[in-house]
Amino acid sequence: MKSIKTATSFVLFGEESYQKLSGILNDKNYSIIFVLVDENTHEHCLPYFMGNLEGDFPFEIIEIVSGEINKTLETCSGVWEALSELGADRKSAMINLGGGVITDMGGFIASCFKRGIDFYNIPTTLLAMVDASVGGKTGVDLGLLKNQIGVIIEPEVVIVDQRYLTTLDQRQFKSGFAEMLKHGLISDANYWNQLKENFDTSSIIDAIQTSVQIKATVVQQDPRENGLRKILNFGHTIGHAIESYFLSLGEDKMLLHGEAIAIGMIMETYLSTIYCQLEPEALKEISEIILHHFGWVEISEKDKKEAISLLKFDKKNSHGTIKYVLLEHIGSPVIDVQIKDNDLNDAFAYYHQLQPNH
Ligand SMILES: NC(=O)c1ccc[n+]([C@@H]2O[C@H](COP(=O)([O-])OP(=O)(O)OC[C@H]3O[C@@H](n4cnc5c(N)ncnc54)[C@H](O)[C@@H]3O)[C@@H](O)[C@H]2O)c1
Ligand SMILES: [Zn+2]
Repeated sequence: MKSIKTATSFVLFGEESYQKLSGILNDKNYSIIFVLVDENTHEHCLPYFMGNLEGDFPFEIIEIVSGEINKTLETCSGVWEALSELGADRKSAMINLGGGVITDMGGFIASCFKRGIDFYNIPTTLLAMVDASVGGKTGVDLGLLKNQIGVIIEPEVVIVDQRYLTTLDQRQFKSGFAEMLKHGLISDANYWNQLKENFDTSSIIDAIQTSVQIKATVVQQDPRENGLRKILNFGHTIGHAIESYFLSLGEDKMLLHGEAIAIGMIMETYLSTIYCQLEPEALKEISEIILHHFGWVEISEKDKKEAISLLKFDKKNSHGTIKYVLLEHIGSPVIDVQIKDNDLNDAFAYYHQLQPNH
């Protein structure tokens, strides 16, 4: 069984990982095991997950409504009440079966309930497998601002099983692919080249493992994001602001996390050519590959202004400054770069002129 170690946890791959998990659950002798799902993972993932466990465990299922819009403290309150009503105690555990919304929020819920109960992540989207379920960042959004409330705490174990991906739609799949491209850009030019050339879903598990390994290596060295871990935020300073703003426009305008990060990566690559001497050929290549996979999104002057004002409240602010992760070369990032407002405007203008047939 393939296993990748993170700071305080490990990620298991392959069929035997369910045996391993069953053994752990058995040894821990939990009073009740709560499985947190949304309506989609309830339908598509829960029966398969349960069918793979070996043993007779005291399960309760808690279902929440899917979507980033529900990644809130209100949803957490509802789950805490359900836990309480269903008799959860300090010897209970939580299994988060779902995408990044479930693993981010479930980890936070578990880490606060009675000052912390064990939790396990079983990611069911590509995004959660390669990124969200690994590394211990948990939390919820606060109004329009992403991930404002949360803690860093790792799950006991993560199980990555690509068979969950068979029911995931193409748009969601691509969203996860954005984080994989990010992993290449921030740490491994060969991986970037491999993803860029032909991304073949038959070899998806190898790519997932490469991504998890990249994230795990970073998290191991800097679990609390004092320095190195910031590289994982490439594309996210601008991307989060765009994600938040489009989320506020309602369901049909909203962008998925990876789609917003893809735009953020193009803009932050543009900034890299100004601040880190990234070669123009790399900007061209990155822009082309990302546009090829994600298309181009209209961001009006008004959208830009609103997104920039949200950006100023972004979580990476320290002492009132905004610090970016940029690239010196593909695979080689630079952290803590401050940029001027007019260059941020130019980054939006650069993205805008990439409009096809412009
Ligand atoms: N903690 C971290 O380090 C980290 C890293 C990256 C992203 N994130 C967070 O992750 C979130 C995005 O995660 P996501 O993209 O997985 O979104 P998500 O959890 O909203 O899942 C996307 C959609 O797919 C559905 N779904 C899940 N698994 C399915 C399956 N196997 N088959 C069919 N449908 C399925 C869900 O119900 C949902 O509708 C964001 O909130 C983002 O901030 C966190
Ligand atoms: Zn992300």
